Amino acid sequence: MHLDEKIWLTLSFGIIMIFMLITGYQAFALEMGPPSHNEILDPQKVDETAPFDEPGIKQIGEKEYEVVMTLQVFSFTPMELEIPAGSTVHFTLTSKDVVHGFQVANTNINAMVMPGHIQKISQKFSEPGEYLVLCNEYCGAGHQLMSTTITVK
Ligand code: CUA
Repeated sequence: MHLDEKIWLTLSFGIIMIFMLITGYQAFALEMGPPSHNEILDPQKVDETAPFDEPGIKQIGEKEYEVVMTLQVFSFTPMELEIPAGSTVHFTLTSKDVVHGFQVANTNINAMVMPGHIQKISQKFSEPGEYLVLCNEYCGAGHQLMSTTITVK
């Protein structure tokens, strides 16, 4: 075998091993939690676990809101949020069954919401309008129906 071939073979094998080690570390040592947060809860007991026992929207400051939301086949709880323009919203999300997505059109929000994990994202809504919220992880037969809106006035 040519020396160059040996070098490239060794290099590509090495790169594959490094990627496998990284993936393995994330999957097993980090248990593949959402990268932003490692808070966990019992996915069977979401309704009894604070803060998800009281999903909803709460004003926590001037132009600052906290939204506690559960995602389940095939809906978001609460549905239809309304906030004044210029507000910052802190979302705390979890799933009650399978993996769902939480994407808000025209913002940078695009998160995976996994059962057993708490996902947190903050977003400032400066422009008034209707923001479409979509599930972007295939979650079953009604996946394409799973949407809601955030109204910014
Ligand atoms: Cu929930 Cu797709």
